[in-house]
Amino acid sequence: MKTLSADEALSVMSGRTAYEAALGRLREASRAYYGDGDSPMDDASYDLLRLSVLAWEQAHPDEVAQDSPTGLVADGAAPAGDVAHTTQLLSLDNVFDPAGLTAWGASLRRRLGQEPVGGFTVEPKMDGAAVAARYRAGRLERIITRGNGTHGEDVSHVIGTIEGLPETLPVPATFEVRGEVLFTQQQFETANEVRAAHGAPVFANPRNGTAGTLRAKDRPYRLAMTFWAYGAVELDGVAFVPAGATHAEVLAAVAEAGVQTTAGTPAGLHVVATLAEAQQKVDEMAALRPGLPFGIDGVVIKANDAAEQAAAGFGSRFPHWAIAFKLPAVERQTVLKDVVWEVGRTGVLAPTAILEPVDIDGSTVTRATLHNPADIRRRDLHLGDTVTVYKAGDIIPRVQAAVIARRPAGAPEVPLPTACPNCGGEINKEQERWRCAKGSACALPALIEYAAGRDMLDIDGLGKTYVRALIEAGAVTDVADLFTLTEEQLTAASGSAKRGAKLAEQIAAAKSRPLSRVFCALGVLGTGRSMSRRIAAHFGTMDAIRQADAEAMQEVEGIGGEKAPVIVERVAALAPVIEKLAGAGVNMTEPQQPQQPSGPQAAAGETAPGPLADATVVVTGKMSGPLEGLGRSEMNAVIEKAGGRAGSSVSSRTTYLVCAASPSGKPSSKALKAAELGVTVLTPEAFAELVTDYLT
Ligand code: IVH
Repeated sequence: MKTLSADEALSVMSGRTAYEAALGRLREASRAYYGDGDSPMDDASYDLLRLSVLAWEQAHPDEVAQDSPTGLVADGAAPAGDVAHTTQLLSLDNVFDPAGLTAWGASLRRRLGQEPVGGFTVEPKMDGAAVAARYRAGRLERIITRGNGTHGEDVSHVIGTIEGLPETLPVPATFEVRGEVLFTQQQFETANEVRAAHGAPVFANPRNGTAGTLRAKDRPYRLAMTFWAYGAVELDGVAFVPAGATHAEVLAAVAEAGVQTTAGTPAGLHVVATLAEAQQKVDEMAALRPGLPFGIDGVVIKANDAAEQAAAGFGSRFPHWAIAFKLPAVERQTVLKDVVWEVGRTGVLAPTAILEPVDIDGSTVTRATLHNPADIRRRDLHLGDTVTVYKAGDIIPRVQAAVIARRPAGAPEVPLPTACPNCGGEINKEQERWRCAKGSACALPALIEYAAGRDMLDIDGLGKTYVRALIEAGAVTDVADLFTLTEEQLTAASGSAKRGAKLAEQIAAAKSRPLSRVFCALGVLGTGRSMSRRIAAHFGTMDAIRQADAEAMQEVEGIGGEKAPVIVERVAALAPVIEKLAGAGVNMTEPQQPQQPSGPQAAAGETAPGPLADATVVVTGKMSGPLEGLGRSEMNAVIEKAGGRAGSSVSSRTTYLVCAASPSGKPSSKALKAAELGVTVLTPEAFAELVTDYLT
């Protein structure tokens, strides 16, 4: 089955036939969502399809299918069992933004006939499977899935495997606790290792894995899961909490009895007075999400007061006193197009998944990390597979698993390298992380040559041959080692005392290069000359760069949500090299931008912002006049010296397009775009005049 894009989901509902087809797709997807099949679509597409079906039903109330899944608990898809629930296990209605929450607040007020006074609780919405667990006299007797809400399946075979849901309690309490069972990220990884070892297909994501594990009664292995309670009801007519207990008090009683609750998660349970405060907590929880050890797909807001809950009442599918604030999907399905291998400084071969671009939580993801060859095999990844990709907040996207049901016929296993992708030499496969047999001698020479180059540390005379000699002699293991080389070592590598002395002089001079060049010399992926200048100008010092998290990194022009965490991670990994550089006396700051040589501010001794302050400049074509011969990198340097930012494509944020005359006489695509957006276009000559003081 095909994954629906947002547009497709909304456009399919053009008529009755399309509606019925959409119902079919919704049923199939919800069976997988609530059951244990492989999801034919990811949550975001599922939610969208469901919303479009709902919208159609609202617009055509007389034509709603009798058996439409939208009117049933769990969309009527969860396998119903034969155990009757004590009271119905309901679902939650959803909102997706602050306006939705406000609207829910208004409907609650209407139902109560007044402003709610008992406050609200805010807790995480765990992304697992709902169960009811019955304790009698402190013993866990039965675990039942939600099923259709009135009847569920007995899955007591998992008793003893669920953290947070002990078999015996320290108190002889009788009650039914309700909550969510899930695999934490760690448990999910372990579960997939165990499954791979048993030749079973890996789970596509933690939630599918949970549903499958609850229902599988005859597996030869047991998988640990975790439970967090979000409610409790009385059992056998034995009161569990005093009448009128608030939601927060019910959960406190559950925790007191020895069962883990949402209040005990790192996200916690918060009691607030108003929905505005609840919204604040929602935002805080959304920010915590990437760091949580388990998946959440939203935040649940509940009226805390028992009397207000009773007054608001229940619909057929959900209570009117609670609402789920859904957070954007952090897991999507996309296609694994390729796997590329890079050789790091230490010779480790690192695989990266190349993906069909997919939007996850506001950013386009095209690459994701994979760990090592063994992990690729454990996950049984094939080229062309539909894979689940997880990305939350600042973290680097990762491939979770393949959706086996959607594997194209004949899709080959991801090929593993047979030779080092950098030097073509042998691979050392002794450890899970494969390395080039040459170790750091593989990628290092190219990196050091790059670092010593004219636009970086500019160490005149230090070319390929001497760099290789220094590495072979063991004198250089990273770029920082260049700065502690003795004249003797340089003499030995270059074969002459004169050359050794000259190189030592050059290296000493290189210590005072500006931060932008020193940073660039580190060879952080995605930070070439221009980007390094922007990073250095933005942060000013190496310390500030090192302290930046992905969010701060994104403030640099041209660094988006996909690039930022990768840069942050690589900078962190380079800590020992950076410290060695600083220890050797290498400059770690960016000099101030030059001041405008004349004008009232200069006279007053203040820093002038430069003629391109706040301007974004894009350059296209071959420069002429005073700028003749300047390449892209040199032009970018001029722009930045004059206080501007160099951009690569014309957008509404572009201030100037410096556009050389096109040899064919036809306007370039950038010029057309600039005209369309009303961006000022300058000839190279006019631009040269503007920045004349900055052309050195
Ligand atoms: S309250 C009567 N609280 O989300 C109240 N549900 O999409 C019913 N869920 O069916 C549920 N975390 O399985 C509640 N903190 C939480 C939850 C939570 C996860 C699940 C639950 C529910 C589903 C609705």
